Amino acid sequence: MPNWNGNVSYKNHMTNLRSSAKSAGKKKPTILITGASQGIGATIAKTFAREVPGCQLVLVARNSRKLQAVANACIKLGANAHGFICDVSIEAEVTRLAKVVKQQLGTVDVLINNAGAFTMAPFAQTKVAEFDRLIAVNLRSAFLVTQSFLPAMLRQKQGDVFFMSSIAGLGAYPNATAYCAAKFGVTGLAKVLRAETKDKGVRVCCIHPGATWSPSWSDSGVKPERIMPAEDIARAIIDIYRLSRRTVVEEIVLRPQLGDL
Ligand SMILES: NC(=O)c1ccc[n+]([C@@H]2O[C@H](COP(=O)([O-])OP(=O)(O)OC[C@H]3O[C@@H](n4cnc5c(N)ncnc54)[C@H](OP(=O)(O)O)[C@@H]3O)[C@@H](O)[C@H]2O)c1
Repeated sequence: MPNWNGNVSYKNHMTNLRSSAKSAGKKKPTILITGASQGIGATIAKTFAREVPGCQLVLVARNSRKLQAVANACIKLGANAHGFICDVSIEAEVTRLAKVVKQQLGTVDVLINNAGAFTMAPFAQTKVAEFDRLIAVNLRSAFLVTQSFLPAMLRQKQGDVFFMSSIAGLGAYPNATAYCAAKFGVTGLAKVLRAETKDKGVRVCCIHPGATWSPSWSDSGVKPERIMPAEDIARAIIDIYRLSRRTVVEEIVLRPQLGDL
């Protein structure tokens, strides 16, 4: 089982894949995904594993057992996967994560800020502690993680940063005050970072999904067929990543065909 920094990496496998990447003569991208232990993040990880053989996946979340299962699945699909246990809302943990990842795996090429949490409460009933928690998990986390991994991207004059906002980061989502405030913050963070890095080789994309099937919906009574599959969010991200570096997809809105819930 992993220790703190949570490195549940698979060294033998890593060595094999590193050498095959080397023999192909092309460095495989390193992709860091927060909130990779389940749901949309885990699906993004598996999609990269399947479609970018030999890529190096840095999978970040708090639950080591689930992370390990996702890492194993990614390895089976052809990736070089490493799990890191980290609460991305805590500055010291993110600093440590960045240090360990840099030492062990080098520069991150693609950062996907996906970790998040959703709870509902109307404005008047939103508790201060819950407001702070949702801001920390959805917004502060994206700020901390991006600030830690951006300098290396700027040095190599290339990188991709994805932010997982929401339709609640674009318009009012009544009865989800704290979540809506946090996701508007994520949208703003993405906009300002894009403006600051557009001439520095770093592309910034903000994703705004509507309802998407993940474990967070399992007790909702909503049928999976009514909303989007996580695979479609992952497909959008990988297709955006593959565009020419002369093109940035600034924002993308994905909704269930039958509309919002
Ligand atoms: N599903 C939707 O309908 C929908 C719609 C729009 C936007 N989104 C956004 O898409 C993202 C993923 O959603 P999802 O539905 O896949 O959510 P989910 O199933 O609840 O998964 C959330 C992920 O975030 C991780 N996480 C939560 N807090 C964390 C923390 N403090 N530090 C590190 N990792 C943390 C969780 O892992 P651990 O518990 O192991 O830490 C888990 O891997 C979120 O940002 C969400 O707001 C979702």
